[in-house]
Amino acid sequence: MIEFELNGRQVSVDAEPDTPLLWAIRDEIGLTGTKFGCGIGACGACTVHIDGTATRSCITYLSDVEGMKVTTIEGLDENGNHPVQEAWRNLRVPQCGYCQSGQIMQAASLLKDTPNPSDDDIDAVMTGNLCRCMTYPRIRQAVRDAATAMGGSDNG
Ligand code: FES
Ligand code: FES
Repeated sequence: MIEFELNGRQVSVDAEPDTPLLWAIRDEIGLTGTKFGCGIGACGACTVHIDGTATRSCITYLSDVEGMKVTTIEGLDENGNHPVQEAWRNLRVPQCGYCQSGQIMQAASLLKDTPNPSDDDIDAVMTGNLCRCMTYPRIRQAVRDAATAMGGSDNG
């Protein structure tokens, strides 16, 4: 049994220690906002926060998060109104949507660490989150808008 905090509540998962965290979140706990894309840490669809840091849950063992705080897209804001989510909605960033929870979790982590990101900062951090629908220009603008809404300046 492995225990950790998920979206502000304690959870216990009865699974092998080397179970990917993504499987535990989706299949054992039933939160399906976090997506499976590649399974090898190469696309970002499975991005969650672990103790506040954006992390690929497909290549993170369940045992790695014992006693830690995990946040998924469902827990980023209890009402779905994190400034990043609001910026995403305002700009209608998603197309098919599949990559977008990972994009949002990556962007929220970026803005926590870098409140005033330049375009280069945005590109450097977001480049590992792939979008087959090519929503990259809207993602970049939404990150800028969210930074402004969170008190940073649009220095893009
Ligand atoms: S599914 Fe985890 S990085 Fe692609
Ligand atoms: S919106 Fe379709 S993969 Fe990104």
